[in-house]
Amino acid sequence: MEIKVASRPLLKRRGNVPCGGETLIKFSGKFLETRTDGKTIPGTLFLGLGSEKELTLDKIRQAMGKAATTIREAGGTKIAAPLLETKFPSDKGGKGGVSVSDIAQAMVEGVILALYQFNLYKTDPDLDKNEIKELTLLVTDRSKKASVLKGALHGQWIANAVNSARTLCNLPGNVLTPSRMEQEALRLRKEYPISVSVLERSDAEALGMGAYCGVARGTAEPPKFIILEYKGGKGKPIALIGKSVTFDSGGISLKPAENMEQMKYDMSGGAAVLGAMKVAAQMKLPLHIVGILPATDNMPGGKAMHPGDIVKTLSGKTVEVINTDAEGRLCLADAITYSLRYKPYAIIDLATLTGACVVALGQHAIALFGNNAKLIEAISLASEKTGEKVWPMPVWDEYYSQIKSDVADLKNTGGRPAGSITAALFLKQFVTDVPWVHLDIAGVAWNGDKPRPYTPKGSTGAGVRLLVQYLIDLAGK
Ligand code: BES
Ligand code: MN
Ligand code: ZN
Repeated sequence: MEIKVASRPLLKRRGNVPCGGETLIKFSGKFLETRTDGKTIPGTLFLGLGSEKELTLDKIRQAMGKAATTIREAGGTKIAAPLLETKFPSDKGGKGGVSVSDIAQAMVEGVILALYQFNLYKTDPDLDKNEIKELTLLVTDRSKKASVLKGALHGQWIANAVNSARTLCNLPGNVLTPSRMEQEALRLRKEYPISVSVLERSDAEALGMGAYCGVARGTAEPPKFIILEYKGGKGKPIALIGKSVTFDSGGISLKPAENMEQMKYDMSGGAAVLGAMKVAAQMKLPLHIVGILPATDNMPGGKAMHPGDIVKTLSGKTVEVINTDAEGRLCLADAITYSLRYKPYAIIDLATLTGACVVALGQHAIALFGNNAKLIEAISLASEKTGEKVWPMPVWDEYYSQIKSDVADLKNTGGRPAGSITAALFLKQFVTDVPWVHLDIAGVAWNGDKPRPYTPKGSTGAGVRLLVQYLIDLAGK
């Protein structure tokens, strides 16, 4: 989609509807209300944003998403939209509040995110054929053009990265294997100043990654422990770790058949890290970032781990594997320990880690855990700006007895109570004293319900926007 910025004359306002002529139409302007009136003003879509006092960037994103899909359904191919030049009392915009550049970014994101479709495997050529080819943002104040263009470009980079992450997660397990994730990482190396190295099964075994290799035992697909490094700045790196289980069958502790097909998105964390690193490179952020994707299938093959097996993690700690379906924390434990080699300034991990997180928060919030108030605060601020909601959860030591093993240092499950917390507390054992945040994205990574304004069904690409915003804020300091 081509994105342009053009000037427009200042229109007179008539009630809630800005219009040039004497035409009056019935339109209340409530949030997400849309109305096309082909007779009076052909080709015009009226889009409700609700009360000005309650306007937020995410409402703009949603409204533009709704407009874009409505226009596509009506057969339109081009959109021109006036840039909102208003104040945002309900947005905590951080330093300097919400700028025109932020508004342009949100508008572009809304459109690109909403128009996403996953139809690589549809052979019927009539399906969803219509495409929006052009989006023009109209500004009244010429002096704002440059910042609007900048915001639009950022919005384009970010939304395209989210959509790429969505595609990776929507791809089925027979296509999106650990080797394919490796290829995706290598593609970034071609286009951007990002270096990539990959540990094969034998390398990971030789290093002593007994937990990650334990998970990978049951699959014939070669596991790939993928490390990306972007050196846009000097100093200690930020470590971004993404759970990358390309299919989670549960292993010997096999999952029930119902909804098991969805477990192709168990690599959503890894996809988010790839997307965020790509955008960081596009924006040339002056940061040092290390991305780690411990990719593997979790399958019940002949060599698979048995429940009761004890594995030795890279850290030296031993883990009794009570349930082979609690594989994410095993992969992440070794990835966290591995990241410590880089002496990171902070570790952020993203993982579709627990079903308990879906029970606790449903589809609309990421569970946020961490050991450092400043880092938690920074992530929360990025969350407010992006509309990717996070909700803080405790990782208190009171829960530790649930993951203490009789025969090893730790067990990989803590029973049903507080399932997300005990999973986070398990990870915490490997973090040492580095500032760390764990984002459980199990609930938000997949939209199994109706499409939302800018979130179609299937993978949501969760985490990309949140990570990018965090990185932008960090770079701006
Ligand atoms: N990938 C799943 C978690 C998950 C469940 C993500 C539903 C998205 C939707 C994870 O590997 C898992 O199976 N967790 C188990 C842990 C349990 C065995 C302690 C779970 O949550 O049931
Ligand atoms: Mn599992
Ligand atoms: Zn899993």
